[in-house]
Amino acid sequence: MVEPGSGYLACGMTGPGRLADPEEIVAAIDSEARKRHDLEGETVLITAGPTQEPLDPVRYLTNRSSGKMGYALAEAAAARGAKVVLISGPVHLAPPRGVEVISVRTAVEMRAKVMENLGPAHIVIKSAAVADFHLSKVPDQKVKKTAARISLELDPTPDILAELGRKKDDRLLIGFAAETQNLVQEARRKLESKNCDMVVGNLVGGADVGFESDQNEVILVLRTGETIPLERASKREIADRIFDQVLKLRLALHAANGR
Ligand code: C5P
Repeated sequence: MVEPGSGYLACGMTGPGRLADPEEIVAAIDSEARKRHDLEGETVLITAGPTQEPLDPVRYLTNRSSGKMGYALAEAAAARGAKVVLISGPVHLAPPRGVEVISVRTAVEMRAKVMENLGPAHIVIKSAAVADFHLSKVPDQKVKKTAARISLELDPTPDILAELGRKKDDRLLIGFAAETQNLVQEARRKLESKNCDMVVGNLVGGADVGFESDQNEVILVLRTGETIPLERASKREIADRIFDQVLKLRLALHAANGR
């Protein structure tokens, strides 16, 4: 928004209402146009949505992730000029324009596709709510109903983000932390244990932000030690603010490494 200039107006009054300086209008357009191209030449790999972990041929374990945050990130990155590969669990969302979408179901499939597409990626954002546990041997036939109690023995899934942290190279690695309490401490612990550059902390369990919602309110925890709260906005707006901070962070990390 370019505000009007202030001064003597044609109607005889004095105050705000004059056409803004043409130079000011051109500068505003220029800065908007630049903002839209600041990811040109970059490849961004994003994961989104939940995973589904089968218990038998007809049942599965999953979570409440809608995939909206990851899809908003993919849309924002593409709008800013990046080549975007989006690896998505099962969601009910239209593929964003100009984005390559690879659909997966389980954590194991997601890991395989992430590793396959990692090579050219400059920025990796793991917004998927990957299941932490699965049944490593899924029965071939439907489990029969019985009167007796049954129990499930679950094994941990591969931690994709931790594996990415071990083979990070020059990439920027961004994880998500969906927590119901101690958000900043948990996000910082994840940043360190998984060797991330940024963790997006998301308080979930409330009514109108986080899972399923179109709005979000997050805290960014950075490798530099900074903590940046992003106030409530649409997931698309939050996605742009995350990329603004990712680009700033990269400059800060390069400056710290003397590059
Ligand atoms: O440790 P926790 O699962 O809470 O960490 C969440 C972050 O780790 C998210 O970025 C999520 O995508 C990633 N993750 C993963 N593989 C898993 C579990 C979580 O990449 N098996």
